[in-house]
Amino acid sequence: MDKIHVVFGSTTGTTESVAAKIASALGAATFNIAADDPAAFDAELLVLGSSTWGIGDLQDDWASRLDQVKGSFAGKKVAVFGLGDSVGFADSFCVAADTIANAAKEAGATLVGDVLKLDDTNEAAQTDAKVAAWVNAIKGA
Ligand SMILES: Cc1cc2nc3c(=O)[nH]c(=O)nc-3n(C[C@H](O)[C@H](O)[C@H](O)COP(=O)(O)O)c2cc1C
Repeated sequence: MDKIHVVFGSTTGTTESVAAKIASALGAATFNIAADDPAAFDAELLVLGSSTWGIGDLQDDWASRLDQVKGSFAGKKVAVFGLGDSVGFADSFCVAADTIANAAKEAGATLVGDVLKLDDTNEAAQTDAKVAAWVNAIKGA
């Protein structure tokens, strides 16, 4: 089994680009949840990323697949990151990331690190530093 996989769902590419940064920092492979690749969840540590759409909804591809894949989180380490808009959607900022973290816990995963919530719409200048600090925390855990 591989050590780390980064699995993301992304509608306009923002979460995909952050997933690539995280994967590069961790030396991990990336998987788009939309591709429905059975190998995606076969790793010791799963780094799961989703943007939030609607009002607090999962990104569409995660919405279609979370129930079907969450069983494979059991016994794994899971770290979760989310992309959102804290200005336009202050009350539902990055809720999808919490939804995935809760599903992983319920499925029997061990959560690693805090849920990373990024606003690349309004605070893009902070993204790289926040990602770097979070990746370091994940590595240490
Ligand atoms: C119609 C619409 C609804 C959105 N709803 C939320 C929301 O409830 N919470 C949030 O934090 N961000 C929300 N966003 C912001 C997106 O999550 C944000 O643009 C994100 O970077 C998109 O990432 P993606 O391109 O990877 O899908 C919404 C954006 C749009 C256009």
